[in-house]
Amino acid sequence: MAEQKRKPVKITETILRDAHQSLIATRMTTEQMLPIIDKMDKVGYNAVECWGGATFDASLRFLKEDPWERLRKLKDGFKNTKLQMLFRGQNILGYRPYADDVVEYFVQKSIANGIDIIRIFDCLNDLRNLQTAVTATNKEKGHAQVALSYTLGDAYTLAYWTDMAKKIEEMGANSICIKDMAGLLTPYKAEELVKSLKKATSLPIELHTHYTSGVASMTYLKAVEAGCDIIDTAMSPFALGTSQPATEVMAEAFRGTQMDPGFDQMLLKEIADYFRPMREEALKSGLLNPKVLGVDIQTLLYQVPGGMLSNMVSQLKEQNAEDKYMDVLEEIPRVRKDLGEPPLVTPSSQIVGTQAVFNVLMGERYKVATKETKDVLLGKYGQTVKPFNPEIIDKVLGDEKKNAITCRYADLLEPELHKIEAEMKQWKQQDEDVLSYALFPQVATEFFKYREAQQTKVDATVADTKNGAYPV
Ligand code: CO
Repeated sequence: MAEQKRKPVKITETILRDAHQSLIATRMTTEQMLPIIDKMDKVGYNAVECWGGATFDASLRFLKEDPWERLRKLKDGFKNTKLQMLFRGQNILGYRPYADDVVEYFVQKSIANGIDIIRIFDCLNDLRNLQTAVTATNKEKGHAQVALSYTLGDAYTLAYWTDMAKKIEEMGANSICIKDMAGLLTPYKAEELVKSLKKATSLPIELHTHYTSGVASMTYLKAVEAGCDIIDTAMSPFALGTSQPATEVMAEAFRGTQMDPGFDQMLLKEIADYFRPMREEALKSGLLNPKVLGVDIQTLLYQVPGGMLSNMVSQLKEQNAEDKYMDVLEEIPRVRKDLGEPPLVTPSSQIVGTQAVFNVLMGERYKVATKETKDVLLGKYGQTVKPFNPEIIDKVLGDEKKNAITCRYADLLEPELHKIEAEMKQWKQQDEDVLSYALFPQVATEFFKYREAQQTKVDATVADTKNGAYPV
């Protein structure tokens, strides 16, 4: 290895997105982020992942924050560091496929408000669902990174991944990410995969994994040795468990080698010191469950991402059926097979998980099928790597199966932006509000009402102050 020339590994920091999404249900507020970004900006990160994924939904729904306002504030603070977001292909940041005009407008506004790199994935790895977002990102002069949603199964061979990588390069992406949302990629498999991808394409390769199954830092080491250009890590207070390997540890692991990212450990310590009380607080309040911090080997057995497990537990709790946990866990791979063996990542993870819960609780498989399960079987989410189970098609769709499609679903959708804008225009204070509403109509409306009430309060306070009254 000594004679081979290697480049310093680049590091993308995830503490402002995936780390808190994975550990504390995406509850970090903008106010908690802002005081530290000046220091984070000096580290020399490849990028800071800070937007997209579940942050958009959680900001509006739980934190009563405008996600666009958060993005603009982060952009103001990060003067030297690129901002990255996670984007669900044709599903944008929502749970259903949207028409192209909404996808294009969302990309345009994301970049206009401060995003530099858009990581785009499809939950079925159907590349047709990525093209619109990639083309729009290129058009807006952003960096389009396409992710392979990594999963296991006999269809997912090295040839499958390298073929996909070549197509991604052809479609105009600027880099490729191996997105291992469940932590399934083991060290030697990573070495093999990275080497094959490097041979198949000239694009930079980034590896994203989770510590859930306990192998993540070893996987990064082997991947970087094999030529992986970028790895995703989280500052130690929000690392490990269902989150990423720790930034400080990975930086130290490569110290003194040609792969050394050259980070200042004293600066990293100051950043970690800032976030540590937040972790302690989350542990105390129960927001951070110590359970998600350990090694969960079930993830390797059942291939279920950490976030999906906690969702499933809360669904079972609501039904007073926590004793059915193991039954559901075993039902998940069966449902996944019925639905063409897709990767389990939003929204396919929720669709498979919820259907598995129904199948177990109803005492009969597919006695009740969710709308989303039907839509998968109708082809609306795209093409799966394997065919659907024909018996399940018959049982769930019946006569409706004649409506199944094989084309890209968005090709059948009329432009929807104008209709959406007409529906919500009473709430519109900025162009971006139309997109918030497009993704989450009810949640966004609740937020708009809250925002208006806050503004009335502020106006009243200003008016009162002018009249000499004290604001209360
Ligand atoms: Co992730």
